[in-house]
Amino acid sequence: MIRVLGIETSCDETAASVVALHGGAAPEILSNIVLSQIEEHAAFGGVVPEIAARAHVEALDGIVEAALADSHLALDEIDAIAATAGPGLVGGLIVGLMTAKAIAAAAGKPLIAINHLEGHALTARLTDGLDFPYLLLLVSGGHTQIVAVRGVGDYQRWATTIDDALGEAFDKTAKMLGLPYPGGPNVEKAAASGDASRFAFPRPMKGSAQPDFSFSGLKTAVRKAATAIAPLSDQDVADICASFQAAVADALGDRVSRALARFRQEFPRTARPALVVAGGVAANRTVKATLEALCSQAGFAFVAPPQKLCTDNAAMIAWAGVERLRAGIIDENGADFVPRSRWPLDSVSAPLVGSGRRGAKA
Ligand code: KG4
Ligand code: ZN
Repeated sequence: MIRVLGIETSCDETAASVVALHGGAAPEILSNIVLSQIEEHAAFGGVVPEIAARAHVEALDGIVEAALADSHLALDEIDAIAATAGPGLVGGLIVGLMTAKAIAAAAGKPLIAINHLEGHALTARLTDGLDFPYLLLLVSGGHTQIVAVRGVGDYQRWATTIDDALGEAFDKTAKMLGLPYPGGPNVEKAAASGDASRFAFPRPMKGSAQPDFSFSGLKTAVRKAATAIAPLSDQDVADICASFQAAVADALGDRVSRALARFRQEFPRTARPALVVAGGVAANRTVKATLEALCSQAGFAFVAPPQKLCTDNAAMIAWAGVERLRAGIIDENGADFVPRSRWPLDSVSAPLVGSGRRGAKA
């Protein structure tokens, strides 16, 4: 039996969770508390790092207490403390990791420093019991990546964005059009009554042999179109949103279908290959429908963990801790770990020039 307390503070959610694994049974989320700071940042149209760090300091103790109380476990019944140590906003990372170190030291438990991206990468094993290897598409406010997940601690990044993250492109588009923060859900809402064929926006990287993503050209095209017809009516905004979403889905589909083909080549013996989506943008129905159709054509299972576990949460961090404990891959010196604002999941792939975490959640 393994029971881990997880802590997540890398961006604008203060979260704590306890996850348990009993022998061969399915893992259990004993508690999962997420406090979103959206209201604190909304007036600024994006996440303000200093406000985020302060809000984590104020909330984290209570959130950890609540997660323990919900799990009906005492601290000494927990096997380890897992905390997000990067990548993310460094102020928040310091709050979460220092708190975790203090709890671990006081309780005499190991501290496991978790890469936030590993949390996203392993969630499908918590929710769907997926076997390795599988393909992960992570589309959030800070990341747009395709990762081959080969085992615990064994990840290979196949594609990343050379400029904006996809969620960031949604957020910036919303801002340009005067839609409220966070932009993604509002763009989707406006798009529902729009004409997706009114604007022929570019599909960046479509057909390119380089496997990566790019969204800044699309964002610029949206700005130009909006400026050209300003002032915008509600219908104009809806049409731009629908056309933007169609371009996103098309560009994303092109990149993902390349990756599915590569997966088939590299892992030919995988009986039931799967594509997992994670990150806030995975909530978008147009994006989801596109990916679902692609997967069914290519003979891949399409796995979308419940939204609550797809966006930032601490259950994924606790679970990554469970996986690491089970596999015996924990850093003996976890208590000395220093937060890393940048921390690629895959240390093998060279960083792309101009790439990395950007935008509201970077
Ligand atoms: O995974 P997430 O909650 O946080 C991190 O970035 O780590 O992702 C938030 C991002 C934001 O950029 C938000 O605008 C976008 O996900 N998002 C959406 C939708 N819901 C959230 N984008 C498009 N359509 C949505 N329905
Ligand atoms: Zn995330």
